[in-house]
Amino acid sequence: MVAELIKGNEIAEAKRNAMKEEVNKLRNEGIIPGLVVIIVGNNPASLSYVRGKTKACKQVGINGKLVELSEDTSEEKLLEIITQYNHDDACHGILVQLPLPEHISETAIIEAISPEKDVDGFHPINIGRMMTGQRAFLPCTPYGIIEMVKAKDISIEGKHVVVIGRSNIVGKPVGQLFLNENATVTYCHSRTANMKEITKQADILVVAVGKMHFVGKDFIKPGAVVIDVGINRKDDGKLTGDVDFEEAEQVASYITPVPKGVGPMTITMLLQNTILSAKWSHQIEGVH
Ligand code: GUN
Repeated sequence: MVAELIKGNEIAEAKRNAMKEEVNKLRNEGIIPGLVVIIVGNNPASLSYVRGKTKACKQVGINGKLVELSEDTSEEKLLEIITQYNHDDACHGILVQLPLPEHISETAIIEAISPEKDVDGFHPINIGRMMTGQRAFLPCTPYGIIEMVKAKDISIEGKHVVVIGRSNIVGKPVGQLFLNENATVTYCHSRTANMKEITKQADILVVAVGKMHFVGKDFIKPGAVVIDVGINRKDDGKLTGDVDFEEAEQVASYITPVPKGVGPMTITMLLQNTILSAKWSHQIEGVH
């Protein structure tokens, strides 16, 4: 058996097409969803990510604004800019690209963004709301992963989900979102003993470790669903995941490729969060 691909690029494209219509309707009511993306410094990878984000905004009719600040921008200045957009009614989402230069506290910046505009879902208020099942902005990569699984009609309730990785951005929240969907969730990480014994029990295995080909076929139960969050660059310049795809596809029932897997979903869910924020700010119902 060879695993069926979960094509994130196709799922993302379908979602963006639906968003175009949704944004059109909002625009007809005089509501133009607006996202402000702030970048400090000129890290080429970060610049490429943020340009991708504002380009995606344009594709669906969201007003995307890129604010490029120099590397030596003070924390005080950045806080001032965030406060300005917190009070700007045309702005429904504020995203400050991470990582930030060392002289700026990421925690201080994340907490300065109004939780009602925190479309990254990084603010402790949104994390708390997500954990307690209240209306919240969900972090984009975990949100995208759940949407991919649902798009393939893979049932989650009662399934054993094993997450490898415990970052604040992906590992921890993706486990929480699967728990919210009534899965049984286990986390594995760098200090986990007998990791393979645990991952081999997974019906759904989420791999977010940041190490090329960390997971081989000996980690995977036959028929499991494998979600690969890794983005690593090989010596030949090509992108590859945290999962050894050639091995895993022989064992799994479904698998996400890298590229064209989880990656395209992340920006798509950022667009979704911005649209939701625009709706919620006008007391229009909108659900995930
Ligand atoms: N840096 C890498 N990924 C992300 C993300 O999803 N949001 C922000 N703000 N910065 C990032």
